[in-house]
Order: sequence, then C-alpha cells, then structure tokens
Amino acid sequence: MKAVALTRYLPIDDPHSLVDVELEKPTATGHDILVRVEAVSVNPVDTKVRSPKPQVEAQPKVLGYDAAGVVETVGEAVTRFKPGDAVYYAGDITRSGSNAQFQLVDERIVGRKPASLDFAQAAALPLTTITAWELLFDRMPYAIDNGGEGKSLLVIAGAGGVGSIAIQLAKRAGFTVIATASRQDTIDWCKAMGADHVVNHREPLGPQLKALGFDTVDAALNLADTDRYWTDLGELLAPLGHVGLIVEPRGELRIGDPYKAKSIGIHWEMMFARPRFRTADMGEQGALLDRVADLIDAGQLRGTLTGTLSPINAANLREAHRRLESGTTIGKLVLAGW
Ligand SMILES: NC(=O)c1ccc[n+]([C@@H]2O[C@H](COP(=O)([O-])OP(=O)(O)OC[C@H]3O[C@@H](n4cnc5c(N)ncnc54)[C@H](OP(=O)(O)O)[C@@H]3O)[C@@H](O)[C@H]2O)c1
Repeated sequence: MKAVALTRYLPIDDPHSLVDVELEKPTATGHDILVRVEAVSVNPVDTKVRSPKPQVEAQPKVLGYDAAGVVETVGEAVTRFKPGDAVYYAGDITRSGSNAQFQLVDERIVGRKPASLDFAQAAALPLTTITAWELLFDRMPYAIDNGGEGKSLLVIAGAGGVGSIAIQLAKRAGFTVIATASRQDTIDWCKAMGADHVVNHREPLGPQLKALGFDTVDAALNLADTDRYWTDLGELLAPLGHVGLIVEPRGELRIGDPYKAKSIGIHWEMMFARPRFRTADMGEQGALLDRVADLIDAGQLRGTLTGTLSPINAANLREAHRRLESGTTIGKLVLAGW
C-alpha cells in the first residue's frame, strides 16, 4: 500500500522530511478494524512529532491522526462496524498513523462518518472535536446540553482547528462565547462559527473584555499558548471559574493565587489519553464521534474544512505541514484521495 512516512526528523523544507513509501497492508485482529483511508487532516501534533531531532527510525514511521474512510475488514472481536461502513476517527498516537492507504484502528475510538459530509469534510473533524468535547464536557464541569446557560466563555485561538469546533459546541451548550482572533479573516471565521464577540489576542485582553461589558469571564479555553495567557486569565476568570488547557507549557505555571484564592478549576485535556492508556472508558471517544455525527447531520454543528490538497502524497503533506507551522491556518486543512 502507499503511505507517507519519515525515518529522519528534518525541517519541512527538506524533501526527505516526509517521503512516499510502499508498506505492507496490515491485518485486523481483536478489536481492530482495517480502514481504507479516503481523506486525512493535519494537526499541530503532526508537526510536533516530526520536529527536527537527531533520532533515526529503523522502519518508516507513518504520522497522521485524523482520517475518514471505509471499513475494509474487521478483527474477530469487533462488534460496532462491518466491512463497507464509512467511518471517521483520530486514532492513537502510539500506533501507525493515517497517512497510509490502509490503517488499523481500535473500533472503540471510531465513529460513523456523518452522512451529510464527504470524506474530506469528515476527516477535518475528529481530533479537534474530541479535544473540544472532552475538554468542555468531560474535564470541565459543563453539561453537553445547556451546561453553559447564563455563563461566559473565552476561547483563545478561536479560528484554529480546535477553536472552530469549540466555539460551536460552546454555543450549542448555551455559553456566551467571546473568541480571540488577530486578523480580519480569523475574526470573520470566529463569527461564522457562532462567536458572540471577538477580541484580539495580540492586544491586552482585559480592557477589550471590559469594553464589551465583561469584568470577568466564567470560563476560558486556552487553545494556543498556556504560559502567555496564564497571568491574564488568573485575573480575568471569575471566582469559582474554570480554565481548560491543551498546550504543554514551556515553563513552570504558578497555580497558587489568584487561582487558589478564587477556587478556579484547572483542567487539562489530552485527547490521546484514552487510547494511549487504554482507559476503561475509551469507548466514550467512539460514542462522542457518533453523537457529533448526529449533530452534524441534524444541522446543529457545521464542518470546519477550509482547504483540501489532493492527492495524499509526500509533496502535499510537506506543503500542509509548512502551512500549519506558520500558525496562521483557519479551520482545518485536509488531504484527499490517492
Ligand atoms: N492536548 C490536546 O489534546 C490537543 C489537541 C489538539 C490540539 N492541541 C494543541 O492545541 C494547539 C492548537 O491546535 P489547533 O489545531 O487549534 O491549531 P491551529 O489550527 O494551527 O491554530 C491556528 C490559529 O491559532 C491562532 N494563534 C496563533 N498564535 C496564537 C497566539 N499566540 N495566541 C492566540 N491565538 C493564536 C491563529 O489565529 P490568528 O491568525 O487570528 O492569530 C490561528 O488561526 C496546538 O498547540 C496543538 O498542538 C492539543
């Protein structure tokens, strides 16, 4: 089968940073399904895993943590899917990735593809949606339906992949959403995703929020830079508020006052935790993707795809990584077809 892989960790402008390879088609056993991959998305995790370092892989390493495709074969323990089913999933960072014509994935972290989306649109969703959903509804104390009623939520990096779906999920849960964006294109996109207000994360946040009538916010999702906004969020969050984090800090975070004085809940989300540690509830990830497919098909959530490169090959994946590394992409970039 065709795949795109690396053996060395090189800058993306090096043509050897991601290369086209031929690999053996894997076989599904146990809870695994073998998926014929039709479309994949790229995420900052791909560029972080690929980041330059001296390490060399003995075997080609396949990246890619977002896919949509069709079930080809199933392992003997599989109960949720059968050959021919259309599916979407993020997968497991400890296993071979989705940048391959066929991929093994545990059925428990797979959802049925939304019927109203094509494969490219579906591939844009899983990783970011799992992240935003688990953060808001599993880690932070908000109920999926109406848990944000009467509350304000600041979403830092509203136009990014995670922000685009977080805004929609938060609006659906009833929050008043204040997103952050720094350019006209990203401001417009945040509004299209449903944000009630947009403030600029390149300017001090407090005065902009005050001008909109918010002395404090009830909750905040920092989806961009944990260290940079830590002090400001400590000031801006209301007593008994909650902050959600998804990005590894560069330095140490002071978790005492004002966070302690205000009893602010600090919540980490790592969307690979369930598959990586094979938690007893890992099936919740498949269930949430099914629920999201229903919400998409019912018109209550919309896709976040903004660009598609075709076919899925090393040259196009290098271009996709290059764009992601700029830190300025809007919504999701997908590669489709072989
Ligand atoms: N822990 C987890 O489970 C998990 C899951 C998914 C993602 N992540 C991490 O979360 C981060 C965001 O992921 P993503 O997919 O949403 O990224 P993304 O799509 O690449 O985000 C791009 C957006 O980020 C905004 N941005 C860039 N620098 C910023 C800054 N300093 N402050 C605020 N906004 C900024 C940009 O908006 P403007 O152009 O308007 O400035 C741009 O629209 C990445 O570090 C990723 O690795 C973690």
